[in-house]
Amino acid sequence: MQFPKSSGSTGFSQSKIGDRSSSQYALEDRLQIEYLIDPVNAQTDLESAQDVIEGLSKTPKSLPPRYFYDDYGSQLFEQICDLPEYYLTRTEAAIFQEYAGAIAQLTGACEIVELGSGSSSKTRLLLDAYQQQGYPLRYLPIDVSAGILESSARTLLTDYSSLKIHGLVSTYELALERLSPAPLPTRMICFIGSTLGNLNPQECDVFFSQVTQASQTGEYFLLGIDLQKPKELLEAAYNDSQGVTAAFNLNMLSHLNQQFDGNFDLTQFEHWSFYNESLQQIEMHLRSLKAQTVELRDLGVAIAFQSGETILSEISRKFNLAQIQQELESKGLQPIQTWTDPNQWFGLLLCQRCNS
Ligand code: AVJ
Repeated sequence: MQFPKSSGSTGFSQSKIGDRSSSQYALEDRLQIEYLIDPVNAQTDLESAQDVIEGLSKTPKSLPPRYFYDDYGSQLFEQICDLPEYYLTRTEAAIFQEYAGAIAQLTGACEIVELGSGSSSKTRLLLDAYQQQGYPLRYLPIDVSAGILESSARTLLTDYSSLKIHGLVSTYELALERLSPAPLPTRMICFIGSTLGNLNPQECDVFFSQVTQASQTGEYFLLGIDLQKPKELLEAAYNDSQGVTAAFNLNMLSHLNQQFDGNFDLTQFEHWSFYNESLQQIEMHLRSLKAQTVELRDLGVAIAFQSGETILSEISRKFNLAQIQQELESKGLQPIQTWTDPNQWFGLLLCQRCNS
């Protein structure tokens, strides 16, 4: 990957990327990718690694879910989305299939900003709808995984000839702080796929405030959330029979090994997940199969595990539509329309930033 370290006081680089054969020039012309975090070099990212040290130092141990998403982890997540047990992606896609036109009609021409864009596959349904209504297409994908951001941006540009993309390799927090004014009459910040479920209630509160602050009055926020449903369905979705979710969970340790010169032995940890009914959340853990000490040399830490001790690697909360609507409203994000599937398994909410 090309990664020119250029100028700029804060960002790591800011340039068009890749080789420019003449046939691709038009495509490169419509692509800009900015790096707000350095995806390659851990040393420059020590500040953001503070949460790793903290999480592994406390009892019980935990790790931030964004460490799932190195390039391989993003690929594993794409595989999860296709699993028969993982109903989330196809249910949400079906809602988009049905209502993307309604969303485009409600917002009018707008820049689509997406937090955690990944493969951008559901976003295509939105782009199709805006295109059909004759609106210009502007997309600002944000992802911590540079590889998936770059490759999906290129594929999109090939498939949508009038599309312009400005991508950010960044965490959500940084990106929301840095958003410049929308190049179109309005903007819609999309947070779909129920990634919101990874945030605990306090983090969720902070996140909504960040969205509110990053938005102008009248701008839109599109939120996709997984809804409460029987425990059996939920547990199957996070314990698939092919073991892809287990591989996804364990890959976090391999990512930490690579990023921080660590020595987690992936054969000495196992995937464990279950639905916590009182907190209405799936919990994914990594359980140590023996007493062991693991080092992350770049961070200068050694972490002791007891046999059977676990690291909480992810919570995935399951929401109640009415309750989340109230929370959004209290943050100045007025829900103007909600959509669900026939089973009411998944919810999509379009909100508008209001005054006060
Ligand atoms: C991408 C956060 C929505 O919580 O369901 C999939 C991640 N974890 N299987 C989720 C995930 C385990 C996923 N989100």
